[in-house]
Amino acid sequence: MTTSLTIPSACDFHLHLRQGDMMRMVTPKVAEGGVSLAYIMPNLQPPIKTTDEALAYKKELQALAPNVTFLMTLYLSPELTVEEVRKASKAGIRGVKSYPRGVTTNSESGIESYEVYYPVFKAMEEEGLVLNLHGEIPSDHNNNVCVMNAEEKFLPELEKLHKAFPNLKIVLEHATSQAAVEMVKRLGDTVACSITVHHLQLIVDDWAGQAHHFCKPVAKYPNDRNALREVVASGHPRFFLGTDSAPHPSHAKESAHAHAGVFTTPLVLPYLAKIFEEIGCLDKLENFACHFGKQFYQVTQKDGFETATVTLVKEDNVVVPQQYAIATDPSTQGDLGAVVPFLASKNIGWKIAKNFC
Ligand code: DOR
Ligand code: ZN
Repeated sequence: MTTSLTIPSACDFHLHLRQGDMMRMVTPKVAEGGVSLAYIMPNLQPPIKTTDEALAYKKELQALAPNVTFLMTLYLSPELTVEEVRKASKAGIRGVKSYPRGVTTNSESGIESYEVYYPVFKAMEEEGLVLNLHGEIPSDHNNNVCVMNAEEKFLPELEKLHKAFPNLKIVLEHATSQAAVEMVKRLGDTVACSITVHHLQLIVDDWAGQAHHFCKPVAKYPNDRNALREVVASGHPRFFLGTDSAPHPSHAKESAHAHAGVFTTPLVLPYLAKIFEEIGCLDKLENFACHFGKQFYQVTQKDGFETATVTLVKEDNVVVPQQYAIATDPSTQGDLGAVVPFLASKNIGWKIAKNFC
């Protein structure tokens, strides 16, 4: 039985770090979770739409976590011109995130049709920028579209985009379905999937009535979770870690209209060790969490990334904290509330014994 694992620090290719107090609390926790490279989502309020905004945001994050390399993205919107794509590429921005309008947190300025962006995608293909897709179509109850099939119904759009831009690198973010896994396997080397920690663990029964497990896309059927588990257990190099860790204050989660998002950042590698051990593929954890994403994105030392190591150990009683206070200044802690992490108060049986920082 494996009781200790030393691997390189991990890469999280899909992360929400927010703004203000929440950002100040969450950002230092990236390294605590064993992650030294993070690919940052732009759905702030207002969204990050320009190179200058992304660089200013990166500077804030870097000050809060000097040991972490941050790769930045822009939010796909009509303001994103071909010229801005070229500028972004020169400035080291790595991708553009597309949110269909209205499907999740801060997606009010998301897009309605992909065709109008074809010139932008062409420029991205030429510049080597990655297109990061939130792969769901909006619910349409007259046509039997709801959260359970919104991802599967999006897949023809993914195939169409890939056919139109075969050299454009596309990541179908936070895949949740067997159909998505099959489609991405079938498409070429330029199409990949990020997979979250929580979607390897949860199914629909776990979020129906349990607000802290509610996220978008929602976790699906047991066979869908099996497909995700099987593809990571097979060591497929185009399926890699992107946690979609998305903190919300507990009052926003435990409300009549629960906000979507699961918070995994402080314990990314311990959660993964628990889940990979349960699936029976601990030996596949390193490639999934540390190498495959970097290979797909072609991250090099030019991105400022340096390899470090993390040691995980199996232990009898490793209990996830009940919550994390949002305010880092104790005088305001009561006012700002807290974030409840994934598997709060549960024993996950693995911890980081030696971190890279
Ligand atoms: O669950 C989610 N939360 N899914 C997303 O796509 C967005 C994220 C957030 O920003 O809260
Ligand atoms: Zn996300």
